[in-house]
Amino acid sequence: MASMSLPTQDQITEKLQAVIDPELRRSIVELGMVRSIEVKDGGLVEVVVSLTTSGCPIRSHFEQAVAKQVSELDGVTKVAVGFDVLSDEEKGDLQQTLGRAKLPEGALAEVKNVICVASGKGGVGKSTMTANLAAALAAEGHSAGALDCDVYGYSIPRMLGVNRKPEVNAERKILPLEAAGGVKVMSIGFFVEENSAVVWRGPMLHKAIQQFLEDVAWGELEYLLLDLPPGTGDVSMTLAQLLPQAKFAMVTTPQPAAQSVARRSAELAAKFDLEILGVIENMSGFTTPDGERFTIFGEGGGQLLADELDVPLLGKVPLSEALREHADAGTPLVTEEPDSPASQAIRQAARGIVAATPQELPVLQAPPAAAAAAAAPSGHELPVVQ
Ligand SMILES: Nc1ncnc2c1ncn2[C@@H]1O[C@H](COP(=O)(O)OP(=O)(O)OP(=O)(O)O)[C@@H](O)[C@H]1O
Ligand SMILES: [Mg+2]
Repeated sequence: MASMSLPTQDQITEKLQAVIDPELRRSIVELGMVRSIEVKDGGLVEVVVSLTTSGCPIRSHFEQAVAKQVSELDGVTKVAVGFDVLSDEEKGDLQQTLGRAKLPEGALAEVKNVICVASGKGGVGKSTMTANLAAALAAEGHSAGALDCDVYGYSIPRMLGVNRKPEVNAERKILPLEAAGGVKVMSIGFFVEENSAVVWRGPMLHKAIQQFLEDVAWGELEYLLLDLPPGTGDVSMTLAQLLPQAKFAMVTTPQPAAQSVARRSAELAAKFDLEILGVIENMSGFTTPDGERFTIFGEGGGQLLADELDVPLLGKVPLSEALREHADAGTPLVTEEPDSPASQAIRQAARGIVAATPQELPVLQAPPAAAAAAAAPSGHELPVVQ
């Protein structure tokens, strides 16, 4: 009888061990990417593979590899390969399998405070705030750095007026660039090929960011500000895992409609037990030279969010043409025109950050390494450093 010779699920799983994800270099079984296996009468085997994104470019690789492996089993007459997408939670599990949060002791050991500048939606001024807050902290005598983690659009080097390729020292560590005023600057954009990041899948990003955090020689810093991409995507999730002691500053615009998106970032912070330092309201009204004030993007949103999160409103930064112009020119407004209203608001926010961060923090520790040690990825490399 044909049915006697149909393979079992276990036999099929065994064969699928040989299907390797070419980017993550592990078996799809081990990675938990085999969603389902069904054996039908007549020898049809249906396998569903879960991908990290629906647009996964190596779909056809999996299709062929799965078909090849399974069709080698006795009794298999046909193999059908289907695809679906991992949920956010499953992606999180996958990232943990890949070696969660294993920043070595040395990595950010001399950085006292890591502060992620985040928002639920794009274009609210995260990068502008990151660059100006770092410059403001430096102007107040604190050592400060700005790290561009926005793999989808790098803006920090431009806003701080540095755009050389960084050098690598004898220990193969990347040396941050130094902007006017002494702000140390680094961007993951220096190390990825143009446009390549947009096709990275979550776990690849995770590895690249992890390596990036390990490989930059920040030295002693009181404040390292991270410019995050908008939203609660893979990068935010990765940073949250890698930097359990990071604190968040949430940027929002004043209109109440922005609250739900800002709240999503806050929920992420809560999920990973991250501390939110406060809220910065940006684009908070426009004042004409005659002193007339227009609330172009509405009013009160920053305070609402701060109340909801039970954190301070660190500052309300008005719309300012000069702020934008200086960001475009690579000369932060806070250092160029420290007394302008926008600069004052940003400097106030910087002082709020200082007030909320103890001066003698214990150095950042790598999180418990027990789980990570076994699953640490090996041989991972920064995508392109040349
Ligand atoms: N207070 C402000 N007044 C005037 N222009 C501003 C202000 N804040 C930001 N901008 C301008 O708005 C644009 C978007 O700002 P920015 O790039 O900092 O936002 P973002 O949140 O980092 O965006 P993305 O989500 O794309 O990373 C920039 O051109 C910036 O110069
Ligand atoms: Mg930005």
